[in-house]
Amino acid sequence: MVAPIIEPPALYRQAADHHHSFQNTDMQKAYHDFKDRYSAFFTTSEIDALRAKEYKRLDEQNQVYLDYTGSSLYSDSQIHKHMTLLLHAIYGNPHSDNPTSSITSHQVAQARNAVLDYFKASTDEYTVIFTHNATGALKLLGESYPFTSDSKFLLFVDNHNSVNGIREFARSKGAHIQYIPVKKSNLRLDPSMLDEYLNNARTGIANLFAYPAQSNFSGVQHPLEFIARAQEKGWDVLLDAAAFVSTNELDLSQWHPDYVDISFYKIFGYPTGVGCLILKHKAMAKLKRPWFAGGTVEVVSVQGDGYYFHEGYSAYEDGTANFLSLAGVPIGLRHVQMIGVKKIHERVMILTDWLIKQLLALRHTNGTPLIRLYGPSNVRMRGGILTMNFLGPDGLVIDPGIIEHYAAQENISIRTGCFCNPGCIETINDIAKLDVEKLLHCGHPISFEEYVAALPGKTMGAVRVSLGIVSNFADVYQFVQFARSFIDKEIAERLQYCTKQMCNSSC
Ligand SMILES: Cc1ncc(COP(=O)(O)O)c(C=O)c1O
Repeated sequence: MVAPIIEPPALYRQAADHHHSFQNTDMQKAYHDFKDRYSAFFTTSEIDALRAKEYKRLDEQNQVYLDYTGSSLYSDSQIHKHMTLLLHAIYGNPHSDNPTSSITSHQVAQARNAVLDYFKASTDEYTVIFTHNATGALKLLGESYPFTSDSKFLLFVDNHNSVNGIREFARSKGAHIQYIPVKKSNLRLDPSMLDEYLNNARTGIANLFAYPAQSNFSGVQHPLEFIARAQEKGWDVLLDAAAFVSTNELDLSQWHPDYVDISFYKIFGYPTGVGCLILKHKAMAKLKRPWFAGGTVEVVSVQGDGYYFHEGYSAYEDGTANFLSLAGVPIGLRHVQMIGVKKIHERVMILTDWLIKQLLALRHTNGTPLIRLYGPSNVRMRGGILTMNFLGPDGLVIDPGIIEHYAAQENISIRTGCFCNPGCIETINDIAKLDVEKLLHCGHPISFEEYVAALPGKTMGAVRVSLGIVSNFADVYQFVQFARSFIDKEIAERLQYCTKQMCNSSC
């Protein structure tokens, strides 16, 4: 249950009367100041025109969308183009030579080539395995990676649960699992520590090192230089690019991770239900699938109790691909190419810079800050994700659920919880192994409430704002106005944690 707030955010309501409109003189004035400060923003003004034409539902419905890391948004033209394809072609199930099957196979091959092309991945070096999402790609890798009892699985504390979960496959094979901490002050890794961990593995053994190119919690961009550094020391590298690629270029002719996971809806919003594992041919050759399925086998016998896999990616795509959705992938990639991912990035970073400065300047009358931002407070090596907590005048955290509740009343889509990244929540709360180990190994399942109750004074959730493909000044301005409305507000009740559903499942 969301706790009541004593006074509604009245200041924001005044601004909201002029919702999303530059008729609002305060917003107009702020926009003028912004224009003076960030002249480069206007090299991205085609995106404003694109938003007005292709994403007009946002402004028609007065929606302030600030959850692009949850999901990006699709344009009208992507849908029209995809529907036109579906209405004109006849797509049969692939895996056959009949005419409608061949059309589908051709379409899937086109999607595979479009992905390699988009990421500048040479076909001599890389291939693509289609999955349902990034998580599907990570699970496929986890279950197939040849961990042994001599192997190491090394990963950052800052990882999404779909990467953390690979540790259970590693554990089942007896591999050693090790986490590298990030600093509480900025949620970055101390690069001087990395070699210590990387040196720590036996060569000639399957050792996997995993990290996110961009944290889905803090927006920190962990250096892509770590890829080669780990590979030189004999590690295979899994780069989780799910949160990075929506507003950043990933050039696989420059960077050469062994495995990369992606969900397409995080780049261009539609279709959902398709992702991929981009992997080196030689990294694929190392994998050992724990089972076979329809579509993956060259030969299989019931009587003979044996089977042989197909060569290449076919051995990893279980059953029937999501072939109708896959037809929408080249359309989405072309859409982003048409805008230019570098342009999206530049615009997002300008808006992020402005937003950071505005939020950190917000103070209660007694001088205490309203916002506690987690991660870097500048735009160096970070993306357009800001995770924060709102503080009362007494410095105590306001339950993120309350913030989301009031944001929802103003049509502002933000996300609260821990974003499937427990390592960052533990870091910002100084939660150590000793604090939680006993609890998690007490011999019976514990509820979320019991878990939180055992960690008094810890804030097991935060508020996340994330920018993306068509974010504009009005979006960030309105969030700042919304935040401002909490200045000097006494909150009647403070739950020190977010709701169960938010913490356990919010991505
Ligand atoms: C960094 C990161 N990795 C992996 C995932 C999992 O993506 P999906 O839920 O699309 O499988 C997410 C989702 O938000 C993410 O942000």
